[in-house]
Parts: sequence; structure tokens; C-alpha cells
Amino acid sequence: MEAPPTRILATFLACFQCEIHSFAGTLCAAVPAQAAGGSVEVVRTHTIVSRPPYARAVLCVMTTLSSTFMATIVKVVYGLELVETDPEAARIEKMLEGLQALTPGKYLVEFLPFLQHVPGWVPGTGFQRELGAWRDATVGTKEGLFKKAMEGIDKGIQTHSVVGELVEGRGVFVQDENDLTVQEIPKSVGNVAVEGGADTTFSSLQTFFLALSLNPEVQRKAQAQLDAIVGPGRLPEHADRSNLPYITAIVKECLRWHPVLPFGVPHLTTQDIEYRGYFIPARTVLLANAWACLHDDQVYPEPEQFLPDRFVLENGEWNTKVPDPTQFAFGYGRR
Ligand code: HEM
Repeated sequence: MEAPPTRILATFLACFQCEIHSFAGTLCAAVPAQAAGGSVEVVRTHTIVSRPPYARAVLCVMTTLSSTFMATIVKVVYGLELVETDPEAARIEKMLEGLQALTPGKYLVEFLPFLQHVPGWVPGTGFQRELGAWRDATVGTKEGLFKKAMEGIDKGIQTHSVVGELVEGRGVFVQDENDLTVQEIPKSVGNVAVEGGADTTFSSLQTFFLALSLNPEVQRKAQAQLDAIVGPGRLPEHADRSNLPYITAIVKECLRWHPVLPFGVPHLTTQDIEYRGYFIPARTVLLANAWACLHDDQVYPEPEQFLPDRFVLENGEWNTKVPDPTQFAFGYGRR
């Protein structure tokens, strides 16, 4: 019997998740993402802050940071150097723009599925053109970056990358040469990692800039901790993190204060289930209200305030009684 499309999608997502889990979010995964002069992020941050003051003054900070995040993720995932003028960069931008389609309720077609079959010239079907352009950008990016990465590997100039590792057979799901997964899984893992990883991280950083400009006392305290632990001569590295509890608290408070995906990503039930007396039929779309969890005043008093101190005790120890916002901000299910 043929598997229904949702099952196939779920199986593929499970494969992607498993492959992604093998490189994202673990210390062993962070270690290989190195470049000459330190980790990829540190080298890129250094490139920005080491520009002379007049050059920094004319920079549009947000544009620079956005392209820095994009370039970092492309480097880690594909081993490719992406520059702002690269046509590939514009196509990735277009692909990322399409993530807004995930906003629940954005399009009427979600509630009236027959609209997908109505011809594109009918008024009110403009969403088809919009989605079509994003789909083309996504397919183009997926094929284009993978092709470039493969060329680099073939010429022997490719540096370490996630896709390279998967193609060379060190991934979990890559099987034999006749199996479609040899190409399709690494290609899709690379693409979904860029889609999932570029704008989410950049959005969190925008929250960080907003929070610190509204709360200068937080910035002063963070600077004092950096000066004391890291000193003025270098940028912080991953290894410093355990000695910088206040900086970690700021990161967690950013994820809590303005979560990137307040309603997570919609999930679809694949079978009938019963949860706490509620019957939920198969093919029901479920939205998790991460915003409500992260703004519950019983758990996080004064939830609208940006208060990193809520995570740190007076003696500088971590306050383990306050739930970690990452439990909600990164969604649900295995990671
Ligand atoms: C601040 C940073 C990030 C935030 C807040 C964030 C948040 C989320 C959320 C809420 C989901 C939906 C999970 C669910 O289904 O419930 C998600 C899914 C996903 N994220 Fe992230 N993410 C971040 C960074 C990243 C990075 C750096 C990567 C990859 C390198 C990534 C890859 C993915 C992928 C592939 C999925 C979808 C597949 C799946 O369900 O596992 N994310 N993320």
C-alpha cells in the first residue's frame, strides 16, 4: 500500500531531523565548524568589528548582520564562502522571504483548499504567484548550493561541511549509491538547515539589539562581565560560555521576551488521538502557543519586562527554579 503524503513528509522530516541533530546543537558538532583564526562565528564577527570606525559608521548594521548570519550558515552547512554580491545570496533572501507563508492563517487557501485549483488569473488568487516565486527560489537554492558544494568536493578545494559529510557517507541515513537518499537527503538537509537557521538566529539578534537599547543597565552589566572574564584583547569563544552566566541569561531572556516563532510551526496529527479527555482527529492542525507559555506571569513575573536577572541568583549561580525558555522557543519534539 502506498504511504499517504503526510506520512512520507513525516518520514522525510524525521530523517532530516535526525541528520540535522547529528550536527546542530551539540558540542561535538560545534567543534568542526572552525575556520582559520577560530570558530566561523568569531572570525566573521571579527571581520565586522575590526573595520575602521568610519567604515562601520556607514554600514547598515542590520543588513550587515543579516548577511553575516546567512553567510555563516552557508559556510557551516555547505563549506561555501558567500559574499553579499553573489546572485546566490539574493536567491536565498527570496527563499527566506517565503517563510512568512508559515504564519498560520495568512492565506485563505488554508481554510478553503479548493482555491489552490482556481486559475491564477481569478481575482484573489495572487497567493499562487507569491508561493510560486518562493518555491522557485527554494528549489533553485537547494540545487544551486548543492551543485557548488559538490564541485568544491570534486576539485578537492572544499572545506569541512555538513553536506560534504553526509555525501561522503558519514550521515545516518545515507545508504547505497542506487538509493535516492544518497542525493536527496543531503540536499534537503542542507536546504532546510539554511531555511531554518538563517532568519531565526538573525531575528533573535534583532531582539537583542532592541532589548539592550531599551535597557542600558543590562548592557552595562553585560559589558562588565565580558571585561572581567574575557578582557579587552579578544572576542568571546564558545569555551567562555560557562563563565558568562549573565550573557547566557540575556540570550535566554531574548528568546523568552520575543520568541521568533510565537506559535511555533504548525503540526498535523497523522492519526486520531485522545489527550486529557480531548479527542483530536487525524489531520488536525495543532498550533502551540509558545508566547503564552513564555509570558505566563506565574512562571516569569513581569513578563513584558526584559529581566535577564530572573535566571541568575544573587550569588551569581544559575536559578534552576525558573524554567528554561528554550523548552518553548525551539518548538516541540525531538531535536
Ligand atoms: C534562535 C534560533 C532558532 C529558533 C528560535 C528556532 C526555532 C524553531 C522552532 C520553534 C521550530 C519548530 C519546531 C516544531 O516543530 O515545534 C524550528 C524548527 C526547525 N529548526 Fe529551528 N530555530 C532556531 C535555529 C535553527 C538553526 C540554527 C537550525 C539549523 C542549523 C534550525 C533548523 C530547524 C529545522 C530544520 C526545523 C524544522 C524541522 C523539524 O521539525 O525539526 N533552527 N526551529
